[in-house]
Amino acid sequence: MNSVIEIIQTDITTLKVDAIVNAANTSLLGGGGVDGAIHRAAGPELLAECRTLKGCETGNAKITRGYRLPAKHVIHTVGPVWHGGTGGESELLQSCYRNSFRLARLNDIKSIAFPAISCGVYGYPVPKAARIVLSVARDEATGGHFERVLFALFDAEALQAYREAAAELNL
Ligand code: APR
Repeated sequence: MNSVIEIIQTDITTLKVDAIVNAANTSLLGGGGVDGAIHRAAGPELLAECRTLKGCETGNAKITRGYRLPAKHVIHTVGPVWHGGTGGESELLQSCYRNSFRLARLNDIKSIAFPAISCGVYGYPVPKAARIVLSVARDEATGGHFERVLFALFDAEALQAYREAAAELNL
């Protein structure tokens, strides 16, 4: 396994890293799933800052402080809704990760944790997403800037899918 990349099963809101990534929606005004968990843990100031960002289009990412979270920042990105894979979903999912990495570099973030973006409510099949995500991470995590790139999975099925994809990619 690439020494920078870590695949773990955990609640992302507990991680003490420079940034955690939120699987948000285009309003950036909170929701369920990991979005709800992050807003609950960060407290109301997070929503107040999100209101100033005026939303976020699918595939893009925006950054806020982490407030009551152990993480210093939250990078909010909006994943694609899965519609069968013929509507550019994989390109949009890739751009979520690439834009998150780009913002992390711009903000001198050395440790970053991602949930399985789009793999919950948005219905993206986890095994397909895992291969896309880890091949992007292999490009981004080997440039020397990042010290830790964590994939924080919430259930055993996602953990298994990411581990299998990592093995296929010789990560
Ligand atoms: N830590 C880590 N991962 C989590 C956590 C958590 N605390 N809670 C949920 N997850 C996992 C889910 O199990 C899933 O694998 O995050 C992944 C993404 O699922 P969702 O949170 O449903 O996100 P997504 O599929 O991208 O849908 C986004 O859901 O919550 C709303 O506002 C959000 O409208 C947006 C949509």
